[in-house]
Amino acid sequence: MNDWRTLPEMRPFVHLEPMETDSGSIVPNSCSTANNLTVLQHYVSQLPVGDTLEVGLAFGASATLLSLYHHKRGVGTVHHAIDPFQTSQWGNAAMKHLGRCGLQGHFQLHAEPSALAMADLVRANKKFVLVYIDGSHLFEHVMSDFMLADQLLIDGGILAFDDSSCDHVAKVVAFVRANFSDAYKEESPYDITAPAQSWWKTRLAKLLGRQQLTIFRRLRASTRAWGTPLTNF
Ligand SMILES: C[S@@+](CC[C@H](N)C(=O)[O-])C[C@H]1O[C@@H](n2cnc3c(N)ncnc32)[C@H](O)[C@@H]1O
Repeated sequence: MNDWRTLPEMRPFVHLEPMETDSGSIVPNSCSTANNLTVLQHYVSQLPVGDTLEVGLAFGASATLLSLYHHKRGVGTVHHAIDPFQTSQWGNAAMKHLGRCGLQGHFQLHAEPSALAMADLVRANKKFVLVYIDGSHLFEHVMSDFMLADQLLIDGGILAFDDSSCDHVAKVVAFVRANFSDAYKEESPYDITAPAQSWWKTRLAKLLGRQQLTIFRRLRASTRAWGTPLTNF
């Protein structure tokens, strides 16, 4: 497990300390769990050098961690976060925190719905080593996030779904497992957070539909073509 004491920038999220917003201080909520953050940190430190992307900024727990990673690596890479509601709903809490931590040079906000911002990134031919999907949890939005993420990820890159025990997200995860197995290989987050019990924790969580974070590695572009039968999911 992570020793968060070495990362004071993560204190508000790990110890639930109040954060500054446009309208006063608020204790952060809706943040990625410490387990999720540990898994993301593990993967990003193993991946080739490159930019990272997340859908869903909120108070900025995962964005702070990933921007810190780019800052420490010091090779000019950047973390991108997509969220149309950073000002209207979150009082710019993440932007203020990232600024206070001196991370603004390693971070870029796309203040638009993910379907629009990700399509722009595809058009600009951007590629990412890791895409973390943690935005709208409606099935149709998560599905769109997946389809666009598939075009933005490098081969060997990591695709992570938060809240995959939520019915909407679980449905998309099941679709990827059933229909994109030529392109994506699933990896267990428990290999990182609970290596000794990973095997049975993975089985049990899948059986009960309780796995919080689902990780896929993109192996290659899918060979799906017009006429490919749909595997039920
Ligand atoms: C669970 S929170 C993200 C938590 C964040 N990743 C963290 O670790 O602190 C979900 C976020 O998704 C954003 N969101 C909702 N609909 C969205 C959309 N269509 N595109 C992008 N972000 C969206 C919300 O504003 C909210 O900030």
